[in-house]
Amino acid sequence: MRVLFFTGKGGVGKSTLAASFAWHLAKNNRVKLVSLDPAHNLGDIFQTIVERNGTWVSERLLVEEVDMKEKTRAYLNKEISLMEETYSYLKVFDLDRYFSLLHYSPGIEEYALLLALEETICRSGTFNYVIFDTPPTGLTLRFLALPRITLAWIERLIMIRRRILEKRVTIAVLTDGKKKADEMSDRVMNRLVELKKQYDNLVQVLESNICGAVLVFNPDLLSVREAERLLDGLKVVGLKVLFCIQNKVREGDQDVAIKAEKEIKERMGSQVPFFWVKWKEGIRRNASGVPFPIGEELMTAVMSLGRE
Ligand SMILES: Nc1ncnc2c1ncn2[C@@H]1O[C@H](COP(=O)(O)OP(=O)(O)O)[C@@H](O)[C@H]1O
Ligand SMILES: [Mg+2]
Repeated sequence: MRVLFFTGKGGVGKSTLAASFAWHLAKNNRVKLVSLDPAHNLGDIFQTIVERNGTWVSERLLVEEVDMKEKTRAYLNKEISLMEETYSYLKVFDLDRYFSLLHYSPGIEEYALLLALEETICRSGTFNYVIFDTPPTGLTLRFLALPRITLAWIERLIMIRRRILEKRVTIAVLTDGKKKADEMSDRVMNRLVELKKQYDNLVQVLESNICGAVLVFNPDLLSVREAERLLDGLKVVGLKVLFCIQNKVREGDQDVAIKAEKEIKERMGSQVPFFWVKWKEGIRRNASGVPFPIGEELMTAVMSLGRE
């Protein structure tokens, strides 16, 4: 399985190109195309309604739009029930109020996105490709950074918990004369170890050759600058750039596009495959199927991806 993230500034053509790629790849592969952008439009692009469990738009192409509100609720419900179990002795505190507040906590949307990502990857074993259409840059980088940040926290918490448990053993030995608490029978410690395993796995998957980003930008200053920031961010979160597309290049834009390509390559390295996609008037899926603005060269690259 390969996992691709289409990234770039809003409006550059991520959804359109992700859909085109998915469509072409699905001629020879089983492909799942998933929108993580709260402002979904894959349904519009394929001129269909995307059902709750996804919609097959061709024989081998399944399209999904993640319901972020539902994912957030699911994430919170799961965490809250685990906390209630683990910290049942804390009932004296006003936990209900704390749980209600969690809905508005910064970072919840990012965790919900991460949950969607993890679930999608776990459930896509029979697919050759999973293609993610991502939310705006800032949110994308924040949720991709989350596994590593969380791991750092968990490792610290494990150390603190270990110290607490050691103190408990000392107290138990002093008071009862016998050793009481051991690490593996401690629920909190077990949960921390379980979480560490889960996030370790995620970090490994994101940094492996299975995953990669496709950087999309347009020949205009703002999208070039955002692409540069994205490149820096992707480096930090450890996601490789598989290839880069300068989309919506108009006939008269050649000079600007050449300059933009040069700037991006300076930041990205010239070894990353780089493509142009021309501005096409009125692109949409036609009745016979082949829809989108991808040219010959890019098609060949897509198909060679399919052969890897
Ligand atoms: N190569 C292209 N030529 C002309 N219009 C394009 C091209 N690529 C995308 N578009 C149009 O640009 C708009 C934004 O594209 P979209 O894929 O929704 O961007 P994003 O997902 O990055 O926000 C849409 O109207 C789409 O049809
Ligand atoms: Mg989009």
